[in-house]
Amino acid sequence: MPKEPVIKVRGVKKIFGEQVVLDGINLDVYEGETMVVMGGSGSGKSTLLRIMIGSIRPEEGSVELFGKNIVDLDESELNEVRKKFGILFQSGALFNSMTIAENVALPLQEHTDLAPEIIDIQVKIKLELVGLREHADKYPAQISGGMNAEIDQLMVDLSKKLHVTSIVVTHEMDSAFTIADRMAMLDKGKMLVVESREYFEQMRDTPLEQAKQMSQTDQLIRQFLRGDPEGPITKRKEDSSYEEDLLGTGAETLREKTPSIVTTRAKAIQ
Ligand SMILES: Nc1ncnc2c1ncn2[C@@H]1O[C@H](COP(=O)(O)OP(=O)(O)OP(=O)(O)O)[C@@H](O)[C@H]1O
Ligand SMILES: [Mg+2]
Repeated sequence: MPKEPVIKVRGVKKIFGEQVVLDGINLDVYEGETMVVMGGSGSGKSTLLRIMIGSIRPEEGSVELFGKNIVDLDESELNEVRKKFGILFQSGALFNSMTIAENVALPLQEHTDLAPEIIDIQVKIKLELVGLREHADKYPAQISGGMNAEIDQLMVDLSKKLHVTSIVVTHEMDSAFTIADRMAMLDKGKMLVVESREYFEQMRDTPLEQAKQMSQTDQLIRQFLRGDPEGPITKRKEDSSYEEDLLGTGAETLREKTPSIVTTRAKAIQ
C-alpha cells in the first residue's frame, strides 16, 4: 500500500447547537481499500461522511481528498473535486424516470465534452463491468429487487477490478465483514479504533470467558460486532437516565469512566 492516503481526515470537530457531534476525528483511507465506518445510532457516521464530501463544514480540522484540503474550497472548486468520486445512498441513487443506461450516461453528458457515440460506448463498458449491460434499457424499479443481495459481491469485484477506494457506512455486520479491508468504529463522536477486518473478526469471535478479561472499550466493540443483547453498551444505557439516553448527554462523564477509549484512539492515529 502506498504511504500517502487518498483520504486524510485530521482533527475534525463538528458542533450542532451545543452538542459536539464529532470530536477530533482522524482517519486515513488508502488507495484501493474499502473502509467500513461503524457505530451506533447518533455516533456521527453520517456527519463524518457529509464532511468528507464537502456537504457540510467542520468547526475544526481538515479533510484532504487527493492531496487537497476540501474544507476551505468554494462551491465551484468543490465540484471539481466531486467529479473524482461518487456517492451511493442506501436507497439507491438513480433517477427513477430514466433507464439504467440514461442514468449512467447523465454524469458523462453533464461533466464531459464527449460525443454521444463515445458516451454510448462508455455506458456499455461501465454496465458490462457491473454485470448490468443486458438491463441497460430497464428502469431502476424493474431491477432493484433482486439486485440488493448482490451489492456486496459487486463492491468486492469492483474494488479488485478498478482499484476504487470506498468508504461505506453500514449497520449490516455481515455486509461489513464481506466488503471491508479495514474498519473504523465511532462512538459518541470519537474514533474508538481503526483496524484491519481480521482484527475485528478476531474480536467478534473471542469467546465470552476470554472477553471478560478485555478492556471495557474492547468489550463494547465486541458486543457491537456480535449484536449481543448483553454487554457494556446495554449497561451504559441502563446507567444513563432516560433523558440522557434520549438527548445523548452524559456522554462526557461516561467517557471519563472509560479512559481506555482515549488510549485506543491515540494508538489508532499513531
Ligand atoms: N443537521 C443537524 N442538526 C443538529 N443535529 C444534528 C444534525 N445532524 C446530525 N445531528 C446530530 O448529530 C449526532 C450524530 O448524527 P449522525 O446522523 O451523524 O449519526 P449516525 O451515526 O449517522 O446515526 P444513524 O446510525 O442513526 O444514521 C446525532 O445526535 C444527531 O442528532
Ligand atoms: Mg446516519
